[in-house]
Amino acid sequence: MMDSLELEIDRSSSRALYLQIADAVRERISRGQLHPGVKLPSTRAVARQLGVHRRTVIQAFNVLELDGWVTSGVGQGTFVHDRAGIEGAGPAGAATSGQPVPDDPSAHTGGFDWEPRLAHGPDRSSDFWRFWLRNRPPEDCIRLTGATADPELFPAGELREVMGEVLRTQGASALDYGPPEGYPPLREWLAGRLEDRGVRVDPAQVLIVNGSQQGMDLLARLLLEPGDDVLVEEPGYTNGFRLFQAHGAQVTGIPMDAGGLQLDRLDAACRQHSPKLLYTMPIFQNPTGLVLAEDRAGPLLEICARHQVPVLEDHFDADLAYGCEPPRPLRARDDAGRVILLGTFSKILFPGLRLGWLVLPRALVGPMSEIKQMTDLSSSLLAQHAMDLFCRRGLLDRHLERIRQVNRTRLQVLLEALEEALPPGAFWTRPQGGMTLWVRLPEGLDSLELLHQSRRRGLDFSPGPLFFPNGGGSEFLRLTYVRETEERIRQGVKILGSVIEENADRVSAEPAARPFL
Ligand SMILES: Cc1ncc(COP(=O)(O)O)c(C=O)c1O
Repeated sequence: MMDSLELEIDRSSSRALYLQIADAVRERISRGQLHPGVKLPSTRAVARQLGVHRRTVIQAFNVLELDGWVTSGVGQGTFVHDRAGIEGAGPAGAATSGQPVPDDPSAHTGGFDWEPRLAHGPDRSSDFWRFWLRNRPPEDCIRLTGATADPELFPAGELREVMGEVLRTQGASALDYGPPEGYPPLREWLAGRLEDRGVRVDPAQVLIVNGSQQGMDLLARLLLEPGDDVLVEEPGYTNGFRLFQAHGAQVTGIPMDAGGLQLDRLDAACRQHSPKLLYTMPIFQNPTGLVLAEDRAGPLLEICARHQVPVLEDHFDADLAYGCEPPRPLRARDDAGRVILLGTFSKILFPGLRLGWLVLPRALVGPMSEIKQMTDLSSSLLAQHAMDLFCRRGLLDRHLERIRQVNRTRLQVLLEALEEALPPGAFWTRPQGGMTLWVRLPEGLDSLELLHQSRRRGLDFSPGPLFFPNGGGSEFLRLTYVRETEERIRQGVKILGSVIEENADRVSAEPAARPFL
């Protein structure tokens, strides 16, 4: 083993330290100064030599490994990889799955530098986000990740028939632009559906959007100005709070406990920030799977009324209840027109049609239609025709029954597997619906480090920092149970359990009362 890597880093550079270390090692390998098979000094030794945190060196070595420059085995060390025969091996690496997305070539070629021209937005420069945005999991991993249904279960055949029928009966008119507010019969169907959930709404208040993600974006355009404050749940939905940050908002996370949002913290944050919006998922929250306690719904609305804060209620997976009646949406209790309800077909049918909906207070319908029109003129009329027919035929309800059953079993399998595989000191939520659950790791473990090791063995999960708008969360991870088969869920949890065991020297058993959030 070498004693020292003799690297230099530039602390005044805007390039993250771990990337500088990875660059330097990569360059030494490319120049033949480090030969295949050579064992690199330990991360601890490199950290000491460079005066950086050991985690920085671990991240650098992980980047190099994912790029195929080095290999490592738990407890054995890190070795220069023999790259002979690796297709396309080159300094920037290849953008295939399981490898880093290459850096901006300008960093290597002296081309146009876009970095300083990027608008202020969500964090892209912290170690975590640099890693996350540059690296993808290997393609064949067991995916306990994402909030995405299992594509194997999509009722594609039924959709094909429905699409055919729309084209036969509507002909070319289904291929025209539609009204910006959406296809009226689908808006009517949704209003009827919501009435069953206690939400009384005029179809004119329902707007069709390209997935609920667009609904959030349009609302941010309508309500937010740079510097405005937005409150979100912490942990919360990544592409929700990052979207608000992309619109220039200051995002503050409100902690949760087993009963959902902590209302005293919400009240304090409203007083401190005078927020423009509260974004919340009271039913089967992403990532925790938790439900807002029944006795918190009224007080939550009272707090928002007192501080004049509008509420964006994300209903994304509220129909995925397994064995319990989901609570009424907040919108069902709102008689002041303060709550905007956001929904989607993505989690109960197929995300590929990109159809979601907003239920708006009357005052926002006009301005929102205008923004929708300015953004994309209208959502696909063909898709809306097909969705309308699909729902009216009862095909959505039939599909829902099926996936609720499949998901319930998968959740059960996941819970049992966790019970078997995870050591004392790990805690997790036990949701009654939705798509994901939330794990608190035993003291001392870091979910990103575990992710590196898990990906090497074929498991992908979502590390905790993804769900924290302003950093933190490394002691948590999110597991998705709706996308993989029972067998693969069991295999995935075994991998997770063994990775945790191997890091066990840092695990200390905690008292059972330790909270999971
Ligand atoms: C909580 C939550 N809301 C909204 C969305 C957006 O989904 P879509 O745009 O497909 O409706 C997602 C997607 O993962 C989500 O997890």
